Amino acid sequence: MKMYDIITKVKRGEPLTREEIRETVFSYTRGDIPDYQASAFLMAVCLRGLSDPETAYLTEAIADSGDRLDLSMFGNLTVDKHSSGGVGDKTTLIVAPIAASLGCKVAKMSGRGLGHTGGTVDKLESIPGYCTSLSANEFISQVDRLGIAVVGQSEGLAPADKKLYALRDVTATVDSVPLITSSIMGKKLASGTKNIVLDVKFGSGAFMKTPEDAEIPAKSMVTIGKACGRRVSALITDMDTPLGLAVGNSLEVKEAIDVLRGVGPEDLREICILTAAEMVSLAKNISSDDAIVLVTEALDSGKAYTKFTEWITAQGGDGEALKNTELLGKAKIYREVYANEDGYIHSTDAELIGLSSLALGAGRAKKSDIIDPHAGIMLNKKRGDRVYAGDRLATLFANDESKLDEAENLLLRAYRFSECKPEKQPLVRDVIR
Ligand code: URA
Repeated sequence: MKMYDIITKVKRGEPLTREEIRETVFSYTRGDIPDYQASAFLMAVCLRGLSDPETAYLTEAIADSGDRLDLSMFGNLTVDKHSSGGVGDKTTLIVAPIAASLGCKVAKMSGRGLGHTGGTVDKLESIPGYCTSLSANEFISQVDRLGIAVVGQSEGLAPADKKLYALRDVTATVDSVPLITSSIMGKKLASGTKNIVLDVKFGSGAFMKTPEDAEIPAKSMVTIGKACGRRVSALITDMDTPLGLAVGNSLEVKEAIDVLRGVGPEDLREICILTAAEMVSLAKNISSDDAIVLVTEALDSGKAYTKFTEWITAQGGDGEALKNTELLGKAKIYREVYANEDGYIHSTDAELIGLSSLALGAGRAKKSDIIDPHAGIMLNKKRGDRVYAGDRLATLFANDESKLDEAENLLLRAYRFSECKPEKQPLVRDVIR
């Protein structure tokens, strides 16, 4: 069938067959379909949508466009977690070793940060010596031995998604539920894991602005993941304000270690317990309540911290720097930022804080930018805190003096004050199973 006819079918809302969808994805990946036709196809999908079966076919085709990792030797114990992207989101560094310390197999491929959101690979690379690329054999053997390995996305995995995503990025076709679902779940299927926990964020720092908006792709990903033979659940979580107090790569690693040692911020600990419990509940087929008890015990006993150090050092990370986090290094310059008024902090806009951190050098405006592992922000005050003019709101860290003014401006714009204490909002709004 000609690409012209496939585009016409989608434009008219006529259903595509599995073969038509597979042929479209494989031909485009091989370079046999020009970008202008693929763009028209994507725009037609964006405007007309796809049915659940069509989205499942697209997801499988993306997964089948390259290598598939075989984790079948680990039975049903493999579990992965995917975040839709946030600010200060260092949860993978905490939940992955918790789950591994409880017998789950975490064979994880993570991404880099872009724009105001951070990425796990950048955080891990801020640990001196940590290696984010392992051969397939090393990866599997580490998962077998320790229950955990975390690397960057392999080039051969879901190549269709790389090409399609790059095209979506420049054709205004990113915000389509079937395209988001098939992109994320296609990569997850290719990575071979049986159980998948999705952290779908909403709020100022997230792609989706309200819980209702976040539920739409979350429900779609759970449905399609199940249709493709996986156990999937999705947490709908608040990203109106950054998670924890640290934003920026090595600062976030230090904070993750604090949580694993029992002294980290309460919001971060809470979301990690709920996320890890969901992972353990799926992989070990136990109730959420039982999983919460196990996860809390793994954190409080130090078992998860021990697993974290085993994992990081196995991948070349400096074990001394995990014990004495000063050795993770720090930025040369800092600036404290103070409140100009009295009141309660009504909101701390996560996107603006992410942009402030980006301005300091902690993130990438475009994929080729080089990040500064030690740049970032430590927040002193967050939503709900009482402050008086002159109180310290945050400290900015950088290695280049010229970056501080813009970062300070962005940070101050992120803080909104009110006379009354804002109502506390739950971090996890819903769980879709
Ligand atoms: N993240 C992805 O990997 N794909 C999307 O389509 C959106 C977010």
